Amino acid sequence: MFERARKSMIGGVPMNWMIEWPGRFPIFAKAGVGSKITDVDGHTYVDFCLGDTGAMFGHSPKATVDAAARQMRKGITMMLPTEDSIRVGEELAHRFGLPYWQIAMTATDANRFALRMAREATSRRKILVFNGCYHGTVDETFVRLVDGKVVPREGAMPPPVDPELTTKIIEFNDLQALEQALMGGDVAAVLMEPVMTNCGIILPEEGYLEGVREITRRTGTVWIIDETHTWCAGPGGYSAAHHLKPDMITLGKPVAGGIPAGAFGVSQEIFDKTIGNMLAETTGVNGLGGTLTGNALALAAMRATLEKVITRKAYDHMIPLAERFNEGVEGTIQETGLPWHTVRLGTRVEYRFGATPPKNGAEAIAAKDPLLNKYVHLYDLNRSILLTPFHNMALMSPYTTRKDVDVHTRVFRESVEELTT
Ligand SMILES: Cc1ncc(COP(=O)(O)O)c(C=O)c1O
Repeated sequence: MFERARKSMIGGVPMNWMIEWPGRFPIFAKAGVGSKITDVDGHTYVDFCLGDTGAMFGHSPKATVDAAARQMRKGITMMLPTEDSIRVGEELAHRFGLPYWQIAMTATDANRFALRMAREATSRRKILVFNGCYHGTVDETFVRLVDGKVVPREGAMPPPVDPELTTKIIEFNDLQALEQALMGGDVAAVLMEPVMTNCGIILPEEGYLEGVREITRRTGTVWIIDETHTWCAGPGGYSAAHHLKPDMITLGKPVAGGIPAGAFGVSQEIFDKTIGNMLAETTGVNGLGGTLTGNALALAAMRATLEKVITRKAYDHMIPLAERFNEGVEGTIQETGLPWHTVRLGTRVEYRFGATPPKNGAEAIAAKDPLLNKYVHLYDLNRSILLTPFHNMALMSPYTTRKDVDVHTRVFRESVEELTT
């Protein structure tokens, strides 16, 4: 199939990340159901990748599928709001603590719109992100910190403008650097994950996020929290679990059970500062939304997913499994004395090739071991386990079982034994 696909698809895949799976070709999926994927050769895999978070609550959750199927017979996209949208707005406001929401197509989209709103609210142009971040293919955020300078991310196709014009970048867990970067009063927004997840999991140090809130508030900078991945911490994301009070929140991936959708929420203050231009006669060209954004199908799927899938009960099943996964890996690491460690955030667990957890992006990037990474992923793949290709990161779903976790614990142990003997 891969040979045939290469004749019509760039790289043989419909989206270029899919060639990052280990081996000479990606497996082609026949079906994904619950916590399992079956490929076209009939192999069944325990899936800890879960669509890199898009299917964090399992493949084709029944409530989402039923609601989406019903809506598909009643209009997919109509350029009109449906009643479902009200329930989605109410539910997001209730969970995440921000009063007003709009829908986006993806988390990338949500971030792009959030930054635009922040610029509108502050009349400032620059944004600030953290070294090692990923917020989707948003040009201003596609950067790295090298020798104290902001540069385009390695491997990225060229940006439209030099990121020095659009972006400031600092290391995570450094309040002094944040203070310095925001002092000039030229930064519209700080966009961040409250726990970094895209160069491995990096936890905030005690008091760090409270410090970010205080400095952003004092300097009139909009604080945007991207909960796309950190939603694994609980039903209202890391923000609700840790009582954070950002000005805006963005999310996407699992919000409609895998059907494309994202969302961003704003505080009363941001709403008051932006609503004028949002609802002006020129609203169709204010730079937010798109023809298919907020379509009836996505909203039906979001409503069902929020009401019936992304529930406290689901987390109560998923978190103990993540703890079990963590203990299994940690046990092998300790017994073998390898200088590795594990980190867990709610339903997300990761193991890293270094003795101590990195505290910022620079440390995380320096600790990467691409060859070892490939080894672990290929070893797992050949033994019917899917781990996200870009990380050693496992997600638990409401369908994941203790047996699934124990299969990984056994295979992980075998992979380490082969490596060390
Ligand atoms: C934190 C974060 N925000 C945003 C995105 C973008 O999501 P999408 O590719 O679905 O637009 C990602 C993707 O990995 C992400 O990790």
